[in-house]
Amino acid sequence: MNKQRTEHLRYGSPSAIPAVESRKTIDTLLSHQSCRAFSDQPIDDEVKQLLFAAAQSAPSKSNLQQFSFIDVNCSSIRAELIQLFPSIRWALEAPMLIFIIGDTHRTQEINRVRNHTFRWEQTDAFLNATVDASLALAFMIAAAESISIGTCPVSKVRESSEAIAKLLKLPIGAFPICACAFGYPQNEAQPISPRLPQSVIVHRDHYQPINFSEIDRYDQTYNRIAGPPKARYPEKFGEPNQSTWSDNVARQTAVLERPDFRDMCESQGLFRKQS
Ligand SMILES: Cc1cc2nc3c(=O)[nH]c(=O)nc-3n(C[C@H](O)[C@H](O)[C@H](O)COP(=O)(O)O)c2cc1C
Repeated sequence: MNKQRTEHLRYGSPSAIPAVESRKTIDTLLSHQSCRAFSDQPIDDEVKQLLFAAAQSAPSKSNLQQFSFIDVNCSSIRAELIQLFPSIRWALEAPMLIFIIGDTHRTQEINRVRNHTFRWEQTDAFLNATVDASLALAFMIAAAESISIGTCPVSKVRESSEAIAKLLKLPIGAFPICACAFGYPQNEAQPISPRLPQSVIVHRDHYQPINFSEIDRYDQTYNRIAGPPKARYPEKFGEPNQSTWSDNVARQTAVLERPDFRDMCESQGLFRKQS
């Protein structure tokens, strides 16, 4: 890693961040792939600082910056997480593990300390914080991948969101969105996971009806390049003749996942009716 430093204005006045060789942004984005096996090589604090600065560079609604990151290093918290979610041990043991928090707590506290009453519509407030946090994470992932660090977001941790809120001591107004593992990849790159054709995603002038032949075409493309995906919920729906992306979409959304997520949000003070 190049130890040179460059100046930037991200925090309002000139401050120094580690300089790295820059790569073409779009090439980095187009070659994104999640990484689920990391080498033991740690991520330097300077690099972490750079990644957080990249995350904070994302746009945010009215510059409210309604997200927080919790960088989990403590071995006992990591051990508790592994007990809660043994199937994602690979992520919970990654060299760097962060939780992405939607954060209306800070806004509400600023509102209170400046002698106002928080009157935002709660679902809109939840969405604003979620969007801010998601954009920040996307910037951070792109930054990491541009310097050969592998990443994988994990929403599995929301399966016990009450326990996460407790373990991470989240205050009222803060809620977990997902975790994200970072580390240097252990293996060679896998084939890039193909995406739906633009004709399905990009609508011209108004919303177009779904063209299922394009979905079928995507299923075939996906299976040709990445291989058939592991069928979701075979214990409920059996093994399909041939598993596909769209079959998995249908299977996954036919099961109520994370039924207690709203309860956690309510106990974090979200979605309260305004008086
Ligand atoms: C919010 C979010 C949550 C995710 N949660 C998980 C997860 O719990 N476990 C996992 O293995 N991958 C998880 N992923 C990674 C996706 O499975 C992955 O991005 C997707 O399959 C596309 O593959 P690619 O990222 O390699 O292109 C998550 C991604 C996002 C954006």
